[in-house]
Amino acid sequence: MEKSMAVTCIALLLLATIALYCDAAGPPAPASDTLFTNKQLRSNEELRSNNSFFVFKVQSDCNMVLTRVSDSSVLWSSGTGGKAAGCWVTMQGDGNLVLYSNQNNAVWMSKTARKEDLYTLMVQDDGNAVIYTASHVAIWSTSYD
Ligand SMILES: *[C@@H]1O[C@H](CO)[C@@H](O)[C@H](O)[C@H]1NC(C)=O
Repeated sequence: MEKSMAVTCIALLLLATIALYCDAAGPPAPASDTLFTNKQLRSNEELRSNNSFFVFKVQSDCNMVLTRVSDSSVLWSSGTGGKAAGCWVTMQGDGNLVLYSNQNNAVWMSKTARKEDLYTLMVQDDGNAVIYTASHVAIWSTSYD
């Protein structure tokens, strides 16, 4: 009886250790290049172009920044650094890309609101971040902002 309990305990300990290890050491989900309608990027979350050359990130200082990874150069930013805390961005169903504070106040927007559709924000391999309609018409991009 005591022996089988010890075996059970050791087995449980092993399982717990494996679970902990997997949680800590598991690979992070690969960053997507696309933010879909009504999805959010929270503070410190990012989109990454498929070729991994470009990152679009909501920084913890509330600045939203498109960076070229090779030399860390900033290609575009929302200019909202320090405006709020815990900022998050969402691709709204009305076509407006909006950065919100943790109080849910709009801090920045792409000003592209229009009819309801399935919009996507995509970080392209060419270093441009673009908002597309469902029929793939570009309505905003970092290079023309
Ligand atoms: C990036 O890769 C994803 C997953 O393979 C794919 O769905 C998406 O269309 C790709 N993006 C571009 C711009 O090709």
